[in-house]
Amino acid sequence: SGSQACGETGAGRMTEPGEIAAAVAALARKGSTGDGLLAGKTVLVTAGPTREAIDPVRYITNRSSGKMGFAVAAAAAAEGAKVILVAGPVSLPDPRDVEIHRVVSAEQMYETTHAMLGGAHIFIAAAAVSDYRPVNVSVQKIKKVEGEEGMTLELTRSPDILASVAARPDAPFTVGFAAETNDVREYALQKLERKNVDMIIANRVGTDCGFDCDENTVEVYWPGGEQSFPMASKTTLAHDLVRLIAARYATERGGTEPAPSLIRMRDQSRT
Ligand code: PMT
Repeated sequence: SGSQACGETGAGRMTEPGEIAAAVAALARKGSTGDGLLAGKTVLVTAGPTREAIDPVRYITNRSSGKMGFAVAAAAAAEGAKVILVAGPVSLPDPRDVEIHRVVSAEQMYETTHAMLGGAHIFIAAAAVSDYRPVNVSVQKIKKVEGEEGMTLELTRSPDILASVAARPDAPFTVGFAAETNDVREYALQKLERKNVDMIIANRVGTDCGFDCDENTVEVYWPGGEQSFPMASKTTLAHDLVRLIAARYATERGGTEPAPSLIRMRDQSRT
């Protein structure tokens, strides 16, 4: 479903060739192993921008289209995971076999993510969350002030969803993205450490790459390792990233263990 060559929108759009190829590859793997790489696992993904209201007609946002996060969610589902997608305001159709929760602001994305996280094995934060939001949201449209050329908008930090998930005692295997225009490796490694995540996907962004395009290239870092992914469609890249995440998860968490929250629940039920 989506926009079509004839100009109409709706059912009938051909699935992207990369997505078809990846789905066939996942099926072939399932055929040989009996399961996808993430069968029995729950994966929570955030995607898209957030929108921070200034007044009823204006907001602060960014250029994220949600394509990368939606592709990651679809790839995890193709690998057999139960996938929960928390998406900011984007115009993409719901991915197949994915439970989607659409939100608008960083605050809503934070609340929904934490509400849905219990029992998740892997968390992947692909969303471009607004770092700042207006302190006061005007209930009426803000009017120009006669004789004043400037205007000051007071902003405050939004909650950091990724860092707050990584800080939970039942934290899943946590993967962040780092969108940077410069010093990409250095800033990404700083985020890996500061946000205390298991893996960081460094994404060079600018007016011509990263945001709102169909292709992407990234470098992935984790404690003691790194891997480069050359330019590819976001669909193909997402499948490659999900395979790496599944492999790192299996190494770090044993692959077959239930999420820590379930382990705790079992321990509590014994006492
Ligand atoms: O959506 P597309 O158009 O396909 O573009 C894809 C993308 C460029 C948005 C994506 O690949 C990407 O890089 N996403 C992360 C964007 C971002 O906000 O990066 P950051 O370096 O500012 O944030 C670091 C990490 O912290 C991210 O995982 C982000 O989701 C998370 N974060 C940031 C701030 C905040 N308040 N809460 C968060 O969870």
